[in-house]
Amino acid sequence: MLSISPTDNLFVLTGAGVSAESGIPTFRGVGGLWRNYRIEEVASPHAWRCDPRLVWEFYSMRRRVAAAAKPNPAHLALAKLEQTLGEHLFLCTQNVDDLHEQAASTNVAHMHGELFKSRCDTCSRLPFRDTNTYDPPAELPQCECGGGIRPHICWFGEVPFELDRIFRALDECTVFMAVGTSGVVEPAASFVAHVRGRARTIYMGAEVPANACVFRECHLGKAGEVLPEFLALEAQEL
Ligand code: OAD
Repeated sequence: MLSISPTDNLFVLTGAGVSAESGIPTFRGVGGLWRNYRIEEVASPHAWRCDPRLVWEFYSMRRRVAAAAKPNPAHLALAKLEQTLGEHLFLCTQNVDDLHEQAASTNVAHMHGELFKSRCDTCSRLPFRDTNTYDPPAELPQCECGGGIRPHICWFGEVPFELDRIFRALDECTVFMAVGTSGVVEPAASFVAHVRGRARTIYMGAEVPANACVFRECHLGKAGEVLPEFLALEAQEL
């Protein structure tokens, strides 16, 4: 049996499926957020220009849901793995919740941003922690410079965060594992193709993802069950 050794560089990409068992809805599929909201009306620069109140209503709802969520065994297993592998683990998430951090992961690349941060849409003020909700008819938050305060989220049509660091880690990885992501949103969906041929590639999730043919191994099941089991078996010699 192949196993993960202390000299491997493990790249883990997580998606909405990892937080599903914590009560945070995924985007696609039954009960998915994009079944009830139109992406272009709540998660795009165009939406922000046309109707910032609707955008904040959407992210306020998501902040409330995420604030009530607790990490599940998948988040905990990845935090434990960081203690063992240290810098040999690169954890990259498409999720904007803070459940990896709540589970005690300390080095997480949030490529799609962070729900509990905001930033100015005009000046270069750094993103800051913001757990407030801004539901209409409340006033929309404003920066001292007069600009609007927006969620620190990568919207459709925007460039994901931390791509330099992420691609460096992809170039170095010997094992690539994607967990709970449907494999349709770029550039994350193509990370596996970037490492294929030189890294061991593993998918774990409830359903076969759209990019399944690029993975060498596929383990179907709930992340909170499959991931801890897999790591207990594969990382037992670490
Ligand atoms: P999706 O909603 O597209 O896919 C979630 C995946 O998780 C699906 O393949 C489900 O089968 C799987 N899943 C559901 N429950 C699971 C569980 N308990 N355990 C394991 N897997 C489970 O979410 P993402 O692929 O993360 O982007 O979506 C990628 C991006 O699309 C998001 O980051 C977001 C969205 O639009 C932005 O907002 C920029």
